[in-house]
This record gives sequence, C-alpha cells and structure tokens, in this order.
Amino acid sequence: MNRKNPEQLRSHRWFGESDMRGFGHHSRIAQMGYSRADYYCKPIIAVINTWSDINSCHAHFRQRAEEVKRGVLQAGGFPLEMPALALAEVFQKPTTMLYRNLLAMETEELLRSYPVDGCVLMGGCDKTTPALLMGAISMNLPAIFLPAGPMLRGNWRNQPLGSGSDVWKYWAEKRAGNITDQQWLEIEEGIARSPGHCMTMGTASTMTSATEALGFTLPGAVSIPAADSRHARMAAETGRRIVDMVWEDLKPRDIVTAASVDNAVTAVLAIGGSTNAVVHMVALARRAGVPLTAERFDQLSQRTPLIANIRPAGKFLMEDFFYAGGLRALLAEISDLLSLGERAVNGRTLGENIAGAEVFNRDVILPRDKALVKNGSLAVLRGNLAPDGAVIKPAAAEARLWKHVGPAVVFADYDDMAARIDDPELPVTKDSVIVLKNAGPQGAPGMPEWGQLPIPKKLLAEGVRDMVRISDARMSGTSYGACVLHVAPESFVGGPLAFVHDGDLIELDVAARKLELKISDAELAGRRAAWKAPPPKFSRGFGALYQSHITQANQGCDFDFLEGTAPTSEPEIH
Ligand code: FES
Repeated sequence: MNRKNPEQLRSHRWFGESDMRGFGHHSRIAQMGYSRADYYCKPIIAVINTWSDINSCHAHFRQRAEEVKRGVLQAGGFPLEMPALALAEVFQKPTTMLYRNLLAMETEELLRSYPVDGCVLMGGCDKTTPALLMGAISMNLPAIFLPAGPMLRGNWRNQPLGSGSDVWKYWAEKRAGNITDQQWLEIEEGIARSPGHCMTMGTASTMTSATEALGFTLPGAVSIPAADSRHARMAAETGRRIVDMVWEDLKPRDIVTAASVDNAVTAVLAIGGSTNAVVHMVALARRAGVPLTAERFDQLSQRTPLIANIRPAGKFLMEDFFYAGGLRALLAEISDLLSLGERAVNGRTLGENIAGAEVFNRDVILPRDKALVKNGSLAVLRGNLAPDGAVIKPAAAEARLWKHVGPAVVFADYDDMAARIDDPELPVTKDSVIVLKNAGPQGAPGMPEWGQLPIPKKLLAEGVRDMVRISDARMSGTSYGACVLHVAPESFVGGPLAFVHDGDLIELDVAARKLELKISDAELAGRRAAWKAPPPKFSRGFGALYQSHITQANQGCDFDFLEGTAPTSEPEIH
C-alpha cells in the first residue's frame, strides 16, 4: 500500500512554509501551548463534535472527544476539536430536518476551510449522522464516524421503556383515561436514564447501523451503549485509526459504492429501521454519485428478512441487541445478502469485519425462519396520489389495513388537525383515511415527523388503535401504525395530495404497491387547474435559502446545489 509522506499532507499547505503566511499559522498554534514537535508534519485530525448542552443524546461527547484525541495523539496525529451544530431532535423546532443540510454544509466547509487532513465525525442523534456523512462525502477527506451509542433501556415499575415507542403507546392510554397523571410523571422520569441516542430502532439506531454497514465505523461500534466503558475504548480506537487512514489516503468515496449502499439498505431492512432512512440514504448516496432510489429499498426488502426483534416492530431494545451480539452478529446472519468485499474504514472488508460474529440471544436476533417479517418490511407506493412515490412500513401497521379503501378526512395543515382531530362532531370512523396536507419539505416546512397522525379521541375510546393515515410528512422511527409517508410531490408544491377533498375514497394496497385517489382523471385535472400555490414560508435567512433549493423526499431532500460529485475546490492560502 502506498502511504503518503508528510509533505503530501493537505495541512502542509498551511504549515509547510516558513514565510509570513506560515508564521501566522505556526505562531497561533504556539499560542495554544503547542510546539512544532506536537504537530509539525503530522496528520491534523478535525474532531467534528456535535456536543451541546441542548443535545441530551450527546451529553457524553465532551468526554468522548477527549478519548478520541487521546487515540489520535497515540497514533502520531494532532487532533483539533471543532464544534458543529448539535441538531437536538427533541428540542429543535419546527424540526431538525430543516437543518440537516445546514450541518452537512457546515461539516463540508469546516473540512474545506481549515488545515485538516482527516476527521472523526461525532454524531448519533437522528439527523446528525446523515448530515455529517453528507458533508464528509462531499469533501472526500479521510473520515471515520464515532457513533453516540444508544442510551440504556428505560424502566417504569419494572417494565422496560423504549424511547418514543412507549411515549406514543402510553400517551394513547392516557388520552383513553387508562394512565393517571402520577403514572405519566413516573414514565417521564424513567424513560431516558443515560446519555446516548434513542434506544429503540428509531432514526438514530437506524442511521448509525446503516453507517456501520456502509463501512464508516470500526466494526461493532454502533451497538455499544453510550454508558458502557467499551464505548470510551472504541472512541480512543477510532482516534487511533483515523491517523492511519490519512497516511493510507482512504477516503469516503472509496467506501461509498453502489454495493456498500446496498449493504446499508439491506441492514436497515433487516433491523426494521426507520422510514427516515429512505430520505437520508438517498441523499448521502447521491453525494457519492450513487443514484439510489426509494424503489431500491423496496426491491431489496423483497429478499431481506426483518430479524431484529426491537421496538417498535419487535419487543426488545438496543441494549438487549448489544448483549445479543449486536449489528455484526445480525449482518453475519444475512451475509449471503451482502456484498462482503466492500471496504470499511479499518481497511478490511465487510466480510472480514463480520467473520466469527455470533448471536448470543435468539429471541433478540431471530433466526431467519422466525423472522418478524419474512420480507417486504418497507414498501414504496405509487399511484395518482403519489406519482413520485410514498413509503409505508407494513410491519408497524395492523395487517388488516394493508389493503383498505376508505373516505378521506382531510386536514389542511397541522394546526387544522390539532384543532379538530378530537372534535366529537368530526365525521370520522375507524374506516376513514386521515389525510394531512402541507407537512412536506416546503409546506411544513422541513418535513417534520408528524406522519403518525393521532387517532381521534372518540375512536380511541372505542378501542381503535390503528387507522390508515396519509401525509407528505415523515414519521419518527419509533412510531408505528398504518401511516403512508413522504408523499411526493408534496401538497405545498401542487402534488396531488393538495387536491384531496373530504369524503373522497382513497385506496391503499400494500401488496400491489398502490395509493390511489378514487376520482376520475378529469376531476383531478379540474381540481389541479383550480389550485392556487400558497405564498412562500420565508422571506429571508436560512429559510429562504432552504425553500429555494430543497428537493423532494424521493430525491433525498438535499439542496440541489450540494448533490453530486462535482470537484470540490481547495481554498487559496494567503
Ligand atoms: Fe436524540 Fe432520539 S432524541 S436520538
């Protein structure tokens, strides 16, 4: 293997000269207490840290950054920690998805504009993972991902509690009058017991698992709970490894190939991952020039069994998954469905990285003949209501709803839904199809996780727990139900969802991959002609940039000017 020599380091452009320009760079490193022996002719490693007081999932990242830096120093590199947007899923409004591309841009520009030879990407809370990867793939400097790791399982009255999933479950019970205020408070205080990301198979666990299958983490890294001492040791090992990656010049686009993307998608399907992965994987694959589509998820789902028995599709939580063998063991179970020759950040192939992995608990990682879903865990629907596609997770829905025709109950936007959903006079039955408009990338804006539309209170009281619900929103990976999501094009830009009226019949047929508004083409054309585009949501700031360039869900909701693999420019150094 050809290794770089120190003069070939990118950072050498900043530090290699002893002229006026070099003086400024050297003197300011000296200002921080370092001498040339600390950094000169060594790989400079950016530790991109999404720690913030507001991101509880990354509460341990201050300490983990120190462990990464220890590893970098041990391996002969020079670490520089660089804070980046935290994208705290629970707190940032209207949705972190509005800012995923901002973190992707920040990552790319931090790497471009500073003397960086390689980077450790510290993420885990939902959008941080795809954002960091998107930026790093575009900049294409050696990059390794340090996953935050899942938090410990929650606990309430000796019952395990799962992030998100159990919130929805017990909230429905509270609305139905089956949970007291005191019990609700106890649940609130017992559900998040440690640092780390959500420990159900939500977007965080889904995207970090996809990241390991793609090849961006050390093998076994993503399943380690955040609070486990093995997580700290993995952080140091990640720091040691990035230094060698720089010398080896192992870059993101050596790792992201059509085959490794298929590996990541297959992993997502086998773990029962969040539907959000469709949007994120499409976006990050396109950054590497891999033309991934939602249909590829559907194709691969035909052959991929869902064997991770983890909530919301299953019973257990990520901590149990780790003790059962974790992602390596799961991937070994489906190794015949993977391209084992794809290279990972440790320089080895996926096949080498999962060799010898064992399953220690067959209730958590199921044998293939006992899969939760034999195949088809994620379906892409098309039809006159979603010409560019929509997704549904049949495994998270009651099977009786997989084929359903019902009259629409339409809400113009989220506020309309919030105001009327529990109105006793709302003409809704268990067979109705609830439709939410203006919840997409432009319309909401930011395509929030509103897609698990609430069941009307009067139906909850009748015992109804699932209904067909359709929107151009996303849904939290910890949610469940017969929710049709990501309808594209979205209603705000004149997608057919905008033309649905109360009482229209809508047909969902998961087996036929069909989503149809049962009105004539002429009627649809007439409604389209009468439709008036709503005014834009923003007149200034990041929102204005966002609305001018955001793509639709089927294209990954990237900014149009960030897609693709056009050469990135290096800064002039004056
Ligand atoms: Fe951070 Fe769920 S809130 S991963």
